[in-house]
Amino acid sequence: MQYVYIVVLGLHVMAGVFWAGTTIAVGRDPEIRAERFFRPQMGAAGLVFLTGILLWYFFHQGLFGPMEKVLALGIATALIAAGVQGALVGSATRQLAGTDAATEARLRAKMTRGERIAGGLLVITVLCMAVARMV
Ligand code: HEM
Repeated sequence: MQYVYIVVLGLHVMAGVFWAGTTIAVGRDPEIRAERFFRPQMGAAGLVFLTGILLWYFFHQGLFGPMEKVLALGIATALIAAGVQGALVGSATRQLAGTDAATEARLRAKMTRGERIAGGLLVITVLCMAVARMV
């Protein structure tokens, strides 16, 4: 059974690092075409939630002590980050095709704003995940 936990935790951390890392990088540099990252980011976010729910079920079911409270804060900020990314970056990505230069600049500014807000929230998530075991 041990190997199941190892695989689930490994997928969880790898998908989470990809999601948080690319979100922060794209938010820092508006030259990066954010639309190319949007689908992989949402795919990684889906895998993070799926594996995170499994980890909660394996190790924290029925508990709500200090560790679970810190994990819950991280989960909440991850949920908001996914919502912000979906709303700001996702909607702008869908409108990009065939627009004029002025509209494209406006949409790209919206995408950068979305990645920056989501990136900040994901920093809180990563910190919560990393320290939860120690509280
Ligand atoms: C950017 C997103 C995320 C990253 C980078 C991340 C990373 C991590 C890491 C490194 C751990 C291991 C902590 C340890 O064992 O000391 C962990 C644990 C955990 N994560 Fe996440 N996580 C993320 C999002 C989420 C989300 C969205 C959920 C829930 C839906 C979640 C649920 C959990 C749970 C329940 C554990 C505890 C596992 C255990 O007790 O060993 N995580 N996460």
